Amino acid sequence: MIYCLCYISKKSSHLNYNDIEEIVSYSQENNTDKQITGVLISYKEHFLQYLEGDSVEIYALFNKIKNDTRHEAIHLLQYSPLPNRLFSNWSMAYKEISGLSDVTLSEHEEICVDGIRDVVHKNEFWKGIESIEVISNLINT
Ligand SMILES: Cc1cc2nc3c(=O)[nH]c(=O)nc-3n(C[C@H](O)[C@H](O)[C@H](O)COP(=O)(O)O)c2cc1C
Repeated sequence: MIYCLCYISKKSSHLNYNDIEEIVSYSQENNTDKQITGVLISYKEHFLQYLEGDSVEIYALFNKIKNDTRHEAIHLLQYSPLPNRLFSNWSMAYKEISGLSDVTLSEHEEICVDGIRDVVHKNEFWKGIESIEVISNLINT
């Protein structure tokens, strides 16, 4: 059964760009082996990661990720069955978003208007999920 899992976290204060590159390249290799797909979004001082794959595999991976000292304040937003993968071509896409203009599409403006930071603070996870769907469109096109 394919599940999706989504969490947000705060980057550790000493994290630099090379560390992120290392995470992404390691993830691409490891996720390919485990048929895990998804996206890692970097937004200012936060990460938002969305994983899809076998329910047991992605939960086991999340347990590892949770203990990774390169980030903290990890909050699980969603873990639920998924009819179809959104990121079937991406073992781990990476997108750095520096401002709202990067995530805004006209028809979804009302969803993204407050940005990912707002999702984090208001904990309205559906907004996060909607944002991910928007971002998946941005990355896949
Ligand atoms: C924000 C963040 C996202 C990560 N995403 C993944 C991922 O998608 N896949 C993965 O294998 N490791 C990911 N990692 C790395 C894992 O936390 C862990 O270091 C890695 O799986 C190595 O574990 P192992 O050597 O014990 O197998 C991520 C780490 C961070 C900080």
